[in-house]
Amino acid sequence: MTDPVQAESIPPSAPLLLFDSGVGGLSVLARVRAALPQAPVIYVADNAGLPYGTKTEAQIAARVSGLLGRLTERLHPRLVCIACNTASTIALASVREVLEVPIVGTVPAIKPAAAMTRSGVIGLLGTEATIRQGYVDRLEAEFARGKTLLRHGAPELVAAAEARLRGERVDPAVFARATDALRRQPGGEAIDTVVLACTHFPLIEAELAAAFGPGVAFIDGSEGIARRIAHLTQGQAFARIHADTALFTRLDDTIAPLGPILMSYGLDEAGGV
Ligand code: DGL
Repeated sequence: MTDPVQAESIPPSAPLLLFDSGVGGLSVLARVRAALPQAPVIYVADNAGLPYGTKTEAQIAARVSGLLGRLTERLHPRLVCIACNTASTIALASVREVLEVPIVGTVPAIKPAAAMTRSGVIGLLGTEATIRQGYVDRLEAEFARGKTLLRHGAPELVAAAEARLRGERVDPAVFARATDALRRQPGGEAIDTVVLACTHFPLIEAELAAAFGPGVAFIDGSEGIARRIAHLTQGQAFARIHADTALFTRLDDTIAPLGPILMSYGLDEAGGV
């Protein structure tokens, strides 16, 4: 386990950098805000690369390490949080090897789900890229032994979360399809716990809960991430001298409709990377 970074060497205005392919990382930002309200934040959405979940491992790894390399050089964050399960399960180890700054990744919350389930059957919703990772197999083998873990890759839900945050209406059939895909697998009718293994999905948890019906609990990794970031920045001074900002890798007409939601997460400015 990495120790907290020496507090004296960090300028108080140095931001936490949260990174995702799109708006999903906002679900992580909400928890980080609750734990560290005074911490300056820069949120980066690689919307030019969205969605990550349908790309290959090589594409994701190259994109994420290239971008984070450039961003850390330019923005001098005190810590980088990869607020994306897809990027973390594929690229966390290689990014850690090349960057000096502490990196916190997003791990599918299989361990707490295994402790929560009463039926022993856990559903996992992620991107197609995440659910096929050896990283997830290892978490399952280590923490969910004796339980059943049923996985479903749901790119439609990523698009649904993006649309919802832009204030667009989303067809409820999208949520029903994801639910059915888990329920129809052998043993799926007994699912009582669902791991939201994509940071976009807590943003549409209410819709997913309605589609699953009563008796299903949802869990994601954001609380653990916030705790980890609080631990690693323990004793450090924070001073917000600029407005917290959201940066996008492509400035297009999807950004303006996000304005109100970005502000509700304390991101008062938006711009290009
Ligand atoms: N938010 C990302 C995750 O946690 C992925 C969304 C995408 O497909 O880009 O996996």
